[in-house]
Amino acid sequence: MTSPWGVPPVTDADYQRRTQERERTSDPGPRRSSEVETRRADAAGLEVRSVTFWVGRALLDDVSVTFPAGKVTALSGPSGSGKTTLLSVAGGLLEPTSGTATYAGRPTWTGSGDPRPEVAFVLQVYGLVPILSAGENVSIALRARGVAPAEADDRAAAALARFGVADLTDRQVEELSGGQLQRVACARGFVVGAEVLLADEPTSELDETNRALVLAELHAEAERGSVVVVATHDPAVVEACDLHHALDEGRLR
Ligand SMILES: Nc1ncnc2c1ncn2[C@@H]1O[C@H](COP(=O)(O)OP(=O)(O)OP(=O)(O)O)[C@@H](O)[C@H]1O
Ligand SMILES: [Mg+2]
Repeated sequence: MTSPWGVPPVTDADYQRRTQERERTSDPGPRRSSEVETRRADAAGLEVRSVTFWVGRALLDDVSVTFPAGKVTALSGPSGSGKTTLLSVAGGLLEPTSGTATYAGRPTWTGSGDPRPEVAFVLQVYGLVPILSAGENVSIALRARGVAPAEADDRAAAALARFGVADLTDRQVEELSGGQLQRVACARGFVVGAEVLLADEPTSELDETNRALVLAELHAEAERGSVVVVATHDPAVVEACDLHHALDEGRLR
Protein backbone atom coordinates (compact mmCIF):
# COMPACT_ATOMS: atom_id res chain seq x y z
CA MET A 1 0.00 0.00 0.00
CA THR A 2 1.28 3.43 -0.86
CA SER A 3 1.71 5.61 2.20
CA PRO A 4 -0.56 8.66 2.54
CA TRP A 5 2.32 10.82 1.39
CA GLY A 6 3.45 8.47 -1.39
CA VAL A 7 1.98 10.41 -4.28
CA PRO A 8 2.95 13.31 -6.57
CA PRO A 9 3.29 16.83 -5.16
CA VAL A 10 1.10 19.81 -5.85
CA THR A 11 3.41 22.59 -6.99
CA ASP A 12 3.25 26.34 -6.58
CA ALA A 13 2.27 26.43 -10.27
CA ASP A 14 -0.78 24.30 -9.42
CA TYR A 15 -1.79 26.73 -6.70
CA GLN A 16 -1.25 29.64 -9.06
CA ARG A 17 -3.44 27.92 -11.65
CA ARG A 18 -6.16 27.41 -9.04
CA THR A 19 -5.90 31.04 -7.96
CA GLN A 20 -6.26 32.18 -11.56
CA GLU A 21 -9.22 29.86 -11.97
CA ARG A 22 -10.87 31.40 -8.90
CA GLU A 23 -10.27 34.90 -10.25
CA ARG A 24 -11.72 33.90 -13.62
CA THR A 25 -14.84 32.50 -11.97
CA SER A 26 -15.16 35.44 -9.54
CA ASP A 27 -14.63 33.14 -6.59
CA PRO A 28 -13.14 35.35 -3.87
CA GLY A 29 -10.96 32.42 -2.76
CA PRO A 30 -9.53 31.73 0.64
CA ARG A 31 -10.18 34.24 3.37
CA ARG A 32 -8.91 34.16 6.90
CA SER A 33 -11.77 34.43 9.37
CA SER A 34 -11.01 36.19 12.62
CA GLU A 35 -13.93 34.49 14.33
CA VAL A 36 -14.66 30.86 14.96
CA GLU A 37 -17.62 29.97 12.79
CA THR A 38 -19.76 27.06 13.84
CA ARG A 39 -22.09 26.89 10.87
CA ARG A 40 -21.86 23.98 8.47
CA ALA A 41 -20.05 25.11 5.34
CA ASP A 42 -21.75 24.61 2.00
CA ALA A 43 -18.90 25.62 -0.32
CA ALA A 44 -17.28 23.00 -2.53
CA GLY A 45 -14.43 21.12 -0.95
CA LEU A 46 -14.04 17.72 0.62
CA GLU A 47 -17.57 16.42 0.84
CA VAL A 48 -18.74 13.73 3.23
CA ARG A 49 -22.30 12.62 2.55
CA SER A 50 -24.40 10.34 4.78
CA VAL A 51 -21.34 8.35 5.84
CA THR A 52 -21.70 5.39 8.11
CA PHE A 53 -18.67 3.33 9.13
CA TRP A 54 -19.53 0.09 10.82
CA VAL A 55 -17.19 -2.29 12.66
CA GLY A 56 -19.55 -4.37 14.82
CA ARG A 57 -21.19 -1.04 15.70
CA ALA A 58 -21.44 2.35 14.03
CA LEU A 59 -18.16 4.24 14.56
CA LEU A 60 -19.62 6.92 12.27
CA ASP A 61 -23.37 7.30 12.07
CA ASP A 62 -24.87 9.18 9.14
CA VAL A 63 -22.22 11.91 9.02
CA SER A 64 -22.59 14.65 6.42
CA VAL A 65 -20.13 17.55 6.36
CA THR A 66 -18.25 19.68 3.84
CA PHE A 67 -14.68 20.73 4.54
CA PRO A 68 -14.21 23.78 2.27
CA ALA A 69 -11.05 24.84 0.48
CA GLY A 70 -9.34 27.91 1.88
CA LYS A 71 -10.42 27.29 5.46
CA VAL A 72 -8.97 25.53 8.47
CA THR A 73 -11.73 23.38 9.93
CA ALA A 74 -11.49 22.00 13.45
CA LEU A 75 -12.95 18.59 14.20
CA SER A 76 -13.35 18.17 17.94
CA GLY A 77 -14.91 15.57 20.21
CA PRO A 78 -14.04 13.37 23.15
CA SER A 79 -11.58 10.50 22.87
CA GLY A 80 -13.23 7.68 20.94
CA SER A 81 -15.85 9.94 19.33
CA GLY A 82 -14.65 9.08 15.81
CA LYS A 83 -12.34 11.93 14.77
CA THR A 84 -9.58 9.69 13.40
CA THR A 85 -12.15 7.43 11.76
CA LEU A 86 -13.81 10.40 10.05
CA LEU A 87 -10.50 11.80 8.79
CA SER A 88 -9.57 8.33 7.52
CA VAL A 89 -12.85 7.92 5.63
CA ALA A 90 -12.79 11.52 4.35
CA GLY A 91 -9.24 11.12 3.03
CA GLY A 92 -9.67 7.68 1.45
CA LEU A 93 -7.78 5.46 3.91
CA LEU A 94 -11.00 3.68 4.89
CA GLU A 95 -13.99 2.75 2.77
CA PRO A 96 -17.31 4.01 4.16
CA THR A 97 -19.79 1.23 4.88
CA SER A 98 -22.39 3.48 3.29
CA GLY A 99 -22.38 7.04 2.00
CA THR A 100 -19.60 8.82 0.12
CA ALA A 101 -16.57 11.04 0.63
CA THR A 102 -15.63 13.01 -2.50
CA TYR A 103 -13.11 15.66 -3.48
CA ALA A 104 -13.36 17.54 -6.77
CA GLY A 105 -16.26 15.30 -7.70
CA ARG A 106 -14.44 11.99 -7.25
CA PRO A 107 -14.65 9.50 -4.40
CA THR A 108 -11.58 9.67 -2.16
CA TRP A 109 -11.77 5.89 -1.65
CA THR A 110 -9.83 4.42 -4.58
CA GLY A 111 -10.52 0.77 -3.76
CA SER A 112 -7.23 0.04 -2.03
CA GLY A 113 -6.73 2.40 0.90
CA ASP A 114 -4.21 4.42 -1.12
CA PRO A 115 -5.20 8.07 -0.86
CA ARG A 116 -5.44 10.18 -3.98
CA PRO A 117 -2.43 12.37 -4.89
CA GLU A 118 -4.32 15.45 -3.75
CA VAL A 119 -4.59 14.19 -0.17
CA ALA A 120 -1.93 14.25 2.58
CA PHE A 121 -2.15 13.26 6.22
CA VAL A 122 -0.41 14.15 9.44
CA LEU A 123 -1.16 10.95 11.32
CA GLN A 124 -2.00 10.86 15.03
CA VAL A 125 0.60 8.14 15.62
CA TYR A 126 3.12 9.98 13.40
CA GLY A 127 3.82 6.99 11.10
CA LEU A 128 7.53 7.78 10.94
CA VAL A 129 10.09 5.13 9.95
CA PRO A 130 12.19 4.55 13.11
CA ILE A 131 15.47 3.55 11.43
CA LEU A 132 15.57 6.64 9.21
CA SER A 133 16.65 10.12 10.17
CA ALA A 134 14.18 12.98 10.50
CA GLY A 135 15.37 14.40 7.16
CA GLU A 136 15.00 11.05 5.39
CA ASN A 137 11.49 10.60 6.76
CA VAL A 138 10.43 13.90 5.21
CA SER A 139 12.41 13.45 2.01
CA ILE A 140 10.87 10.05 1.23
CA ALA A 141 7.43 11.65 1.14
CA LEU A 142 8.64 13.65 -1.85
CA ARG A 143 10.77 10.93 -3.44
CA ALA A 144 7.75 8.61 -3.35
CA ARG A 145 5.94 11.26 -5.39
CA GLY A 146 8.66 11.34 -8.01
CA VAL A 147 10.73 14.29 -6.79
CA ALA A 148 14.47 13.90 -7.50
CA PRO A 149 16.52 13.04 -4.39
CA ALA A 150 18.56 16.27 -4.24
CA GLU A 151 15.45 18.44 -4.58
CA ALA A 152 13.57 16.24 -2.13
CA ASP A 153 16.35 16.63 0.45
CA ASP A 154 16.38 20.42 0.00
CA ARG A 155 12.60 20.67 0.35
CA ALA A 156 12.69 18.34 3.36
CA ALA A 157 15.25 20.59 5.05
CA ALA A 158 13.08 23.63 4.38
CA ALA A 159 9.99 21.84 5.75
CA LEU A 160 11.83 20.83 8.93
CA ALA A 161 12.94 24.44 9.31
CA ARG A 162 9.29 25.58 9.02
CA PHE A 163 8.57 23.59 12.18
CA GLY A 164 11.71 24.59 14.05
CA VAL A 165 13.41 21.20 13.85
CA ALA A 166 16.05 21.84 11.17
CA ASP A 167 18.74 20.92 13.69
CA LEU A 168 17.26 17.42 13.95
CA THR A 169 17.59 16.61 10.24
CA ASP A 170 20.27 13.97 10.77
CA ARG A 171 18.90 12.50 14.01
CA GLN A 172 17.29 9.05 13.99
CA VAL A 173 13.61 9.50 14.76
CA GLU A 174 13.76 6.88 17.52
CA GLU A 175 15.97 9.34 19.42
CA LEU A 176 13.41 12.16 19.30
CA SER A 177 10.99 13.36 21.96
CA GLY A 178 7.22 13.24 21.45
CA GLY A 179 7.01 16.91 20.50
CA GLN A 180 9.97 16.63 18.14
CA LEU A 181 8.40 13.56 16.47
CA GLN A 182 5.17 15.47 16.06
CA ARG A 183 6.90 18.36 14.33
CA VAL A 184 8.78 15.99 11.99
CA ALA A 185 5.44 14.34 11.19
CA CYS A 186 4.01 17.80 10.44
CA ALA A 187 6.94 18.57 8.15
CA ARG A 188 6.30 15.33 6.27
CA GLY A 189 2.57 15.98 5.90
CA PHE A 190 3.00 19.61 4.85
CA VAL A 191 6.02 19.20 2.58
CA VAL A 192 4.03 17.89 -0.38
CA GLY A 193 1.73 20.93 -0.57
CA ALA A 194 -1.39 18.79 -0.96
CA GLU A 195 -4.79 20.18 -1.93
CA VAL A 196 -6.32 18.38 1.04
CA LEU A 197 -4.39 18.27 4.32
CA LEU A 198 -5.87 16.15 7.10
CA ALA A 199 -4.00 16.66 10.38
CA ASP A 200 -4.90 14.36 13.26
CA GLU A 201 -4.07 15.96 16.63
CA PRO A 202 -0.94 17.64 15.19
CA THR A 203 -0.34 19.75 18.31
CA SER A 204 -1.15 17.33 21.16
CA GLU A 205 2.49 17.03 22.31
CA LEU A 206 3.50 20.64 21.73
CA ASP A 207 4.14 23.62 23.97
CA GLU A 208 2.28 26.86 23.33
CA THR A 209 4.94 28.36 21.06
CA ASN A 210 5.15 25.32 18.81
CA ARG A 211 1.37 24.93 18.82
CA ALA A 212 1.12 28.50 17.50
CA LEU A 213 3.73 27.69 14.85
CA VAL A 214 1.78 24.64 13.62
CA LEU A 215 -1.47 26.64 13.62
CA ALA A 216 0.17 29.36 11.52
CA GLU A 217 1.35 26.73 9.04
CA LEU A 218 -2.14 25.17 8.88
CA HIS A 219 -3.54 28.62 8.04
CA ALA A 220 -0.81 29.16 5.46
CA GLU A 221 -1.86 25.94 3.70
CA ALA A 222 -5.51 27.07 3.72
CA GLU A 223 -4.55 30.50 2.42
CA ARG A 224 -2.89 28.75 -0.52
CA GLY A 225 -6.30 27.28 -1.30
CA SER A 226 -6.12 23.87 0.36
CA VAL A 227 -8.78 22.08 2.34
CA VAL A 228 -7.33 21.84 5.86
CA VAL A 229 -8.94 19.78 8.61
CA VAL A 230 -7.46 19.43 12.07
CA ALA A 231 -8.74 16.92 14.61
CA THR A 232 -8.16 18.19 18.11
CA HIS A 233 -9.09 17.97 21.79
CA ASP A 234 -7.65 21.40 22.44
CA PRO A 235 -10.14 24.31 22.80
CA ALA A 236 -7.34 26.78 21.95
CA VAL A 237 -6.82 25.02 18.60
CA VAL A 238 -10.58 25.07 17.94
CA GLU A 239 -10.62 28.81 18.68
CA ALA A 240 -7.82 29.39 16.18
CA CYS A 241 -9.64 27.61 13.33
CA ASP A 242 -12.04 29.19 10.84
CA LEU A 243 -14.75 26.54 11.14
CA HIS A 244 -15.66 23.95 13.73
CA HIS A 245 -17.54 20.66 13.79
CA ALA A 246 -17.94 18.53 16.89
CA LEU A 247 -18.35 14.76 16.95
CA ASP A 248 -19.93 12.75 19.72
CA GLU A 249 -20.20 8.95 19.57
CA GLY A 250 -19.82 8.93 15.82
CA ARG A 251 -22.40 11.65 15.13
CA LEU A 252 -21.95 15.31 14.34
CA ARG A 253 -23.46 17.45 17.03
N1 LIG B 1 -10.60 -0.85 13.48
C1 LIG B 1 -11.40 -0.66 14.51
N2 LIG B 1 -12.18 -1.68 14.95
C2 LIG B 1 -13.04 -1.51 15.97
N3 LIG B 1 -13.17 -0.35 16.65
C3 LIG B 1 -12.42 0.67 16.27
C4 LIG B 1 -11.50 0.59 15.18
N4 LIG B 1 -10.89 1.78 15.06
C5 LIG B 1 -11.41 2.57 16.01
N5 LIG B 1 -12.31 1.91 16.73
C6 LIG B 1 -13.15 2.46 17.81
O1 LIG B 1 -13.90 3.51 17.21
C7 LIG B 1 -14.11 4.59 18.09
C8 LIG B 1 -13.63 5.85 17.43
O2 LIG B 1 -12.20 5.82 17.33
P1 LIG B 1 -11.37 7.03 16.78
O3 LIG B 1 -9.94 6.61 16.79
O4 LIG B 1 -11.95 7.47 15.49
O5 LIG B 1 -11.66 8.13 17.90
P2 LIG B 1 -10.98 9.55 18.13
O6 LIG B 1 -12.10 10.53 18.27
O7 LIG B 1 -9.98 9.81 17.08
O8 LIG B 1 -10.28 9.35 19.54
P3 LIG B 1 -8.92 10.00 20.13
O9 LIG B 1 -9.30 11.40 20.53
O10 LIG B 1 -8.62 9.14 21.33
O11 LIG B 1 -7.87 9.94 19.09
C9 LIG B 1 -13.38 4.20 19.36
O12 LIG B 1 -14.32 3.67 20.25
C10 LIG B 1 -12.39 3.13 18.93
O13 LIG B 1 -12.12 2.25 19.97
MG1 LIG C 1 -7.93 10.00 17.10
